Amino acid sequence: MIEYRNVRVALLGGGTVGAQVARLLLEHKEEFASRVGASLELTGIAVRNLDAPRSADLPKVLFTTDAESLILGADIVIEVMGGLEPARSYILQAINSGADVVTANKALLATHGTELFEAAERVGAQLYFEAAVAGAIPIIRPLRESLAGDRVKRIMGIVNGTTNYILDKMDTEGSSFEDALAIATELGYAEADPTADIDAFDAAQKASILASLAFHTTIPLEKVHREGIREVTGKTVELAKKAGYVVKLLAICERLTNPETGKEAVSARVYPALISREHPLASVHKANNAVFVEAEAAGSLMFYGAGAGGPETASAVLGDLVSAARRHIIGGPGLGASTNANLPVLPISAITTRYHVTLSVFDRPGVLASVADVFGQHGVSVELVEQGTFGSEAVSGEAAPTATLVIGTHAALESDLAATVSALAQLDAVSSVVSVLRVEGA
Ligand code: NAP
Ligand code: HSE
Repeated sequence: MIEYRNVRVALLGGGTVGAQVARLLLEHKEEFASRVGASLELTGIAVRNLDAPRSADLPKVLFTTDAESLILGADIVIEVMGGLEPARSYILQAINSGADVVTANKALLATHGTELFEAAERVGAQLYFEAAVAGAIPIIRPLRESLAGDRVKRIMGIVNGTTNYILDKMDTEGSSFEDALAIATELGYAEADPTADIDAFDAAQKASILASLAFHTTIPLEKVHREGIREVTGKTVELAKKAGYVVKLLAICERLTNPETGKEAVSARVYPALISREHPLASVHKANNAVFVEAEAAGSLMFYGAGAGGPETASAVLGDLVSAARRHIIGGPGLGASTNANLPVLPISAITTRYHVTLSVFDRPGVLASVADVFGQHGVSVELVEQGTFGSEAVSGEAAPTATLVIGTHAALESDLAATVSALAQLDAVSSVVSVLRVEGA
């Protein structure tokens, strides 16, 4: 029988994810060895602060601040430090010294992915990144391998646990945005800087990775349209609820036809949207994630589970580690990045969807007609109008009665809707534009 020497594994980062990767790797050492066919030897854990508390009881001797020496002595490097630098340099160093790399770092992949994949391809190394999107949920491998023989038409997903946690708490418990964010941070879901979650940078990075894989096209982060959840107020959530909807931060990657050229194109976008309470995504609660994939031959597929958290994300990292270790032993070329389709990416202005526009209007004769007229002038067809709560607003010292008006549209071009909203904001009858939300899902 062939005796394999140990596979040396260097871990960069011992935080929320890293500490759990190390714990599981040490706890299940024997099982990993029999799955891989060789022992996985954790050679060290690179951190910034040797004295920082850890979420697992790990041997002190493993910790080091010398990441570079650790990388030089490794067969596989796991990067769970986060951030762009020094993570990028360390990964390049690992690749150039002959190691395969496992990373959970979507910010790095969405920003420097092309450079890293090219570097790996040059030397025949592998870069695994299952944990970079949707935590524990297997979605990278299904897109990269299982669906490689199909044509993905659309992906619609909840890919950020923190924002889903916040929106869910606001919807189900009427919590304030701030309270819900504080708990999500305490539970380890939020990024080191939670604006990455709130302003949807994190979800946009994930959309860039998913769309690039699904459409075999490099979709850079700057081509992903991004809107975060800062503008979503308790009132918006409450109005949505009354109308039978729930507000979710959605990442949408779509194959469509360019309305100008008639040729195939793609779109990647992230924004808070309304979905019917009947839609399966509406029942994705807490920090869970879910990704719907519609493919030409496979039809609709749904992937659901924990999108964040230490042990959950460690599960995806360790799955990659097992693949990397098996390849290390058996050899072979591994998987290259497939970007051969090279489809153009459409801007948000070329996207068509339905909308709910909520206005606060002065409650007087002719208001409805003037509002409807603005929609008509911009070629946006109105599907429904609902008058909501009544109130009053001080105008020139007098209390003027107001009403909330919710206007639902048929599918309309984003640029037409944007022009409609600008014109509505100028209308005398309109006191304020309360919210504009897209409606997604059939
Ligand atoms: P974290 O808790 O902040 O941990 C980061 C770790 O990296 C810490 O141990 C830190 O050391 C170490 N580190 C940071 N900069 C370093 C440097 N320059 N040199 C050496 N060590 C350094 O982060 P995390 O939540 O585990 O996330 C890690 C990665 O996984 C990120 O890319 C994140 O986006 C991704 N991810 C996280 C989750 C999640 O649920 N948390 C889910 C999916 C993907 P100290 O401990 O000494 O400060
Ligand atoms: N901050 C991220 C989230 C972690 O909330 O989903 C998982 O990528």
